[in-house]
Amino acid sequence: MEKFVVTGGVPLVGDLKVSGAKNVALKIPVAALLTEGKLEIENFPVIRDGNFLLEVLQSLGADIHLSDHHLEISCDHLKTTTVPLEFGARLRTTSLVLGPLLARFGEAKVPNPGGCRIGARPIDRHIRALEAMGAEIKYNPTDGFFYGKTKQLHGAKIRFSKNTHTGTEAIILAAVLAEGHTVIENAAMEVEVNDLINCLNQMGAKILRTKERQIDIDGVKTLHGTKHKLLPDRNEEVTFAIAAAITNGRITVRNSQRSNLTAFLDVFTKSGGKVTPIDGNTTTYARSEKLIASAVATAPHPGFMTDWQAPWAMLMTQAKGVSSIHETVFESRFSYVRELVKMGAKIEFYDPLVINPQDFYNFNWSDRQPDTHQAIKISGPTKLHNAIVNIDDLRAGATLLLAALSAQGTSYIYGVEQIDRGYEKIEEKLRTLGAKIKRVEEESI
Ligand code: EPZ
Repeated sequence: MEKFVVTGGVPLVGDLKVSGAKNVALKIPVAALLTEGKLEIENFPVIRDGNFLLEVLQSLGADIHLSDHHLEISCDHLKTTTVPLEFGARLRTTSLVLGPLLARFGEAKVPNPGGCRIGARPIDRHIRALEAMGAEIKYNPTDGFFYGKTKQLHGAKIRFSKNTHTGTEAIILAAVLAEGHTVIENAAMEVEVNDLINCLNQMGAKILRTKERQIDIDGVKTLHGTKHKLLPDRNEEVTFAIAAAITNGRITVRNSQRSNLTAFLDVFTKSGGKVTPIDGNTTTYARSEKLIASAVATAPHPGFMTDWQAPWAMLMTQAKGVSSIHETVFESRFSYVRELVKMGAKIEFYDPLVINPQDFYNFNWSDRQPDTHQAIKISGPTKLHNAIVNIDDLRAGATLLLAALSAQGTSYIYGVEQIDRGYEKIEEKLRTLGAKIKRVEEESI
């Protein structure tokens, strides 16, 4: 077990490159299952979830080489269509192998990726769509596995009842080798999906975003290998933009993607953040002297991403006035609040009046737990003090790290493996910006 020891109050100044996007790195390697050719991926982030995915592919027999962010995967000699429980159940995107295994081998046995600390995170939308394409998928609650089989996947007209980022990707991965034409309606618009589409098209797939929230796919017989460079991580860029503002510093991101961050940049500048475009993909983040309260509701892209709401809440503890955040995508994504309150933040939960919550919220209303809330009110500015805090999930971890960087005194952050899931060597990046942070092995008692 490791912890971060952080001494706050230092303005972070300097420049950096963010790593390859976690939420692309957990999908594109799955495309290697669709071909006997070699898939080469540049800018692959060295993060725990990425390693977990590579172990899932290796458990199927993939041949994998990763050195200095360059990944090579060959799946010409797969040995099984079953993902072992110990590998599969750790990672949300394990379920993405269902489509490619069914398309190539007509069968698949995959553990239920299950929920995590931000909600139930079922894959009912993925399964229903795969069944519409000719797959027969049964879930066995006694062993926790999905059993899939098909004679041949065929094209279908799929309409997602609600947005699903990974669900859209699951169907794309299944449809590229299916027989015939597939239309996905109410398809996710996240830019990470576009990176998967671009990579698959480079492999010979025929995928097109024909109109707003619609994707058309013509199945092909075979796909070949390719070389693809991953998109930089939007969530990491947002984390560092907030780090600049929260420590009253100045951070330049050298592989910035402002066009994919419009919802964030809009509310960041309105709340007193400063954004200085240096050139097409270089942006300097800072803050004006006053931070102003905001009212934010998360939404699927191009809205304010749910992955940004925890770091945003942290920033709003330093803003003058009462801010609100309404989380509409996941049903339980405020685990960080109790830890921020420990550091002196003034935050209370509430549930906004919503006319038809079953349709309004992106999660399945039936998945709600009784004691959770969908919104918080943050009163600021409040001086945060150091504390000993525990991390529950990835974005909560980044948030508590930001809190420690801005608080007076030295804080101890336990559960840093949660941050390592999605941020590559975050303490090294922060140290280059002047942060006083070190990773300490926790003596086992
Ligand atoms: C992806 O999760 C991302 N993860 C999340 O990032 C991100 O927050 C989310 O998309 C929204 O952009 C990866 O890409 C690995 P959804 P995903 O399917 O695909 C419910 C991070 O911190 N739902 O759009 O799981 C679901 O439970 C992570 O980087 C169903 O009920 O999100 C959620 O409440 C966190 N049934 C909502 O819909 C389904 O079949 C949105 O899910 C599918 C989804």
